[in-house]
Amino acid sequence: MSIGTVGVIGGTGPAGKGVAFRLAMTGLDVVIGSRELSRAESTCSEVDRGYSWRSNLSGGTNEDAARCGLVVLATPWEGLASTVEPLSEILSGKVVVTMANALVRVGKEFQPVLLAKGSVAALVASLLPNSQVVSAFQHVPARELLEVDSVLHADVIICGDDPGSKLNVREIFDRIEGVRLLDGGSLALSGAIEAMTAVLLNLNLRYKTRTSIRVSGIEA
Ligand SMILES: NC(=O)c1ccc[n+]([C@@H]2O[C@H](COP(=O)([O-])OP(=O)(O)OC[C@H]3O[C@@H](n4cnc5c(N)ncnc54)[C@H](OP(=O)(O)O)[C@@H]3O)[C@@H](O)[C@H]2O)c1
Repeated sequence: MSIGTVGVIGGTGPAGKGVAFRLAMTGLDVVIGSRELSRAESTCSEVDRGYSWRSNLSGGTNEDAARCGLVVLATPWEGLASTVEPLSEILSGKVVVTMANALVRVGKEFQPVLLAKGSVAALVASLLPNSQVVSAFQHVPARELLEVDSVLHADVIICGDDPGSKLNVREIFDRIEGVRLLDGGSLALSGAIEAMTAVLLNLNLRYKTRTSIRVSGIEA
């Protein structure tokens, strides 16, 4: 499959930046998108000149990122509707990966926010009826993604309604060393992954650690 470039909308935040860096490390060209071009450009220049994959990154607007072959959404969930609605035509016919969680901090605890659509992924699918939405990476900590000198050790559970799009996502993100993509089912299952992220964050706080998901019983 040839997807050309990957665009990351909201790619200046830790989560989108982490995914962008990891994909650039695999040799893919990645456009980091932002509401402000200069922020995207300075995010690219954060990468040490010693890394050869730095040249695979370029900064752009969120619209530039949306023009790429495959697009990752990495804004906070509250900003998704206003961000993707104006881009829906550009995103039409494309695979769009959402990594957003709807979470709220209540006292010392993270809790999932129950959205009317059921999940962030379902919200995105309703905003982009002509795109193939796949959810992935919601539960992978940005800090781990950004430690580019360390190999990731994470299973990434993806959800989506179109088997071909999930295959595309697996082909691209499986290139990241140490990451194993597992098919968690249709987009209706994404809410479970998004809510589980709140649990993982609470475990991190309680046990002062960094948890990730590793599913046993599946070979390779
Ligand atoms: N942080 C993690 O460990 C982690 C891990 C997995 C998944 N996630 C999910 O990934 C998403 C991004 O997380 P993050 O921690 O990187 O978030 P963030 O830093 O708060 O936001 C990411 C970027 O989105 C843009 N943005 C912020 N508010 C916006 C708004 N109202 N409308 C449009 N764009 C806005 C900003 O870019 P510009 O100002 O440059 O446009 C910002 O740099 C979240 O939905 C989160 O649930 C996070």
